[in-house]
Amino acid sequence: MCGIVGYTGNGKANAVLVEGLKKLEYRGYDSAGVALQHENRLLISKAAGSVSDLEKALDESGNRATAGIGHTRWATHGRPTDENAHPHSSCGKEIAIVHNGIIENHQRLRNRLLDEGHEFRSETDTEVLAHLIETYYEGDLLEAVFKAVEKIEGSCALVAISSEEPGRLVCARRDSPLIIGLGEGENLVASDIPALLAHTRKTKVLEDGEFASITAEGAEIYDSSGRVIDREIFEIKWDIEAAEKGGFDHFMLKEIMEQPDAVKETLRQRVDPESGKVILSELGLTAEEIGRLEKIHIIACGTAYHAGLLGKAVIEKLAKIPVEVDVASEFRYREPLLNENHLAIVISQSGETADTLAALRLARRQDLKVLAITNVVGSTVSREADEVLYTWAGPEIAVASTKAYLTQLIALYLLALYFGDARGSAEPELVLELVSGLKALPGQLKAVLSEESLSRLRAYCDHLSKWESAFFVGRNLDYAVAMEGALKLKEISYIHAEAYAAGELKHGPLALIEDGIPVIALVTQKAVFEKTLSNIQEVNARGGAVFAITMEGFDDVARQVESVFYLPPANEILAPVLSVVPTQLISYYTALARGSSIDKPRNLAKSVTVE
Ligand code: M6R
Repeated sequence: MCGIVGYTGNGKANAVLVEGLKKLEYRGYDSAGVALQHENRLLISKAAGSVSDLEKALDESGNRATAGIGHTRWATHGRPTDENAHPHSSCGKEIAIVHNGIIENHQRLRNRLLDEGHEFRSETDTEVLAHLIETYYEGDLLEAVFKAVEKIEGSCALVAISSEEPGRLVCARRDSPLIIGLGEGENLVASDIPALLAHTRKTKVLEDGEFASITAEGAEIYDSSGRVIDREIFEIKWDIEAAEKGGFDHFMLKEIMEQPDAVKETLRQRVDPESGKVILSELGLTAEEIGRLEKIHIIACGTAYHAGLLGKAVIEKLAKIPVEVDVASEFRYREPLLNENHLAIVISQSGETADTLAALRLARRQDLKVLAITNVVGSTVSREADEVLYTWAGPEIAVASTKAYLTQLIALYLLALYFGDARGSAEPELVLELVSGLKALPGQLKAVLSEESLSRLRAYCDHLSKWESAFFVGRNLDYAVAMEGALKLKEISYIHAEAYAAGELKHGPLALIEDGIPVIALVTQKAVFEKTLSNIQEVNARGGAVFAITMEGFDDVARQVESVFYLPPANEILAPVLSVVPTQLISYYTALARGSSIDKPRNLAKSVTVE
């Protein structure tokens, strides 16, 4: 989510790090910092804001430094402030580190380190690593990093420097990427290739569980037991633009492909592996407050609103609390009936959407507690809400929201299970099934995103791209996914797409069904399976061409439609997380076939900060 650069060589480390961080700003951009080795001490400069803000804050005495580390941050633990920006350092600032990932046992480690007398300067999980390394440091930074990483649970890409070992960078990788760049008389390390390309195309990729020691002369890679590994050099062929997109043609496709990890991150540490209970320790709502809730209002815009529609179904099913879902621009002007036993849930990827923010303020003025589901730490929504449940999707750059939507669904499932538990209203068997289903989702998403699926969907889109209108239909939860599918297709391919509850077809839209018109049917809900099939037959009878998205085991579907796309079997409540993915890819490949501007569709902005 964040960006890391490390440099050692004969150049000016300050300039190299800043230039590298600028190339990584698309990864995270709420604060930045560098630590430079300078005359047996470390010079650390940090600033909330962009890398340009950091440039202004740089300590000029570091201009002669030839080794250092830098970081651009996308806040997770702790707000985007100067103090929380990386690098973080040991008590005496002899050791500094930059880190990507999440340290799950940071609280326990922090308590232990505080007892031992360490002084903390930030609210971050990362800082415990700096102090842990300090604890183990006996003159060899690599040795200390080995020992410290052993003690942490969670993910990490880490680069450390010490004032006592000039010219040396030490790295560790677990579940978060790090790439070493091999230059002439200089070597680098970075979390992403764009930061390396101005210096070299020769790289060595660190694998999970590996460590490295880098100097200007060379880079040595070690496995977890300290054995040296001979890694082949990998030559980067991408240009800078392709490298920023991780080799994908568009950010949207990159973000679609990141969804298994985004879901995994959002679930991380929120389900107790032993009891199977959902733990949302970040929420301050007491069981008594949850028990008193008479109604929930979910308020959001666009894709986030569609997530809210699914949230309603799941919360009502598990927590047995009536839920109303409103588009924020309607909620704020419709004079909703509210009282203090109601809870407002606002959902916003950016946390800056003007209508959502106005709805949040309205709810608070009327004495409602507001719980925000957002992807951006420190956003206005997160600051003004009473409670915040973060989605950990990482920065979403394409205007069309994909991975943020999926993580919003996960947050809503977790919330529904949590409320259900607090109210004693959820059926224990269903809870167990959903919890194990949630854990299976990242693996299932990978299957949905296989090469074979991608090429099948792409072939279908060659046909779809020739039409100027299309329908998405489904019943129950499938209807909410149909709405999201239609929005995505409109947004980036400019095809007029309509979503309908399948049972509504005969109340009007059937008049538009003509020979060959594309109809995408979502068929994952058992309880309404037969009913949806008969709606599909109504379309067939008028010549419509149905592409069905259904689950393995729903064999009758194939007999009724032109083409079918199967999803791995899942509990029908969780099916939307899987079924929305082919609709995202359909939009993407259709827009690609039509030559539209995919990441920046006409007339739209990523964050709608005006009414
Ligand atoms: O940042 P937000 O989640 O508040 O944004 C809400 C909508 O503007 C957003 O979801 C929009 O509909 C997307 N472009 C859809 O892909």
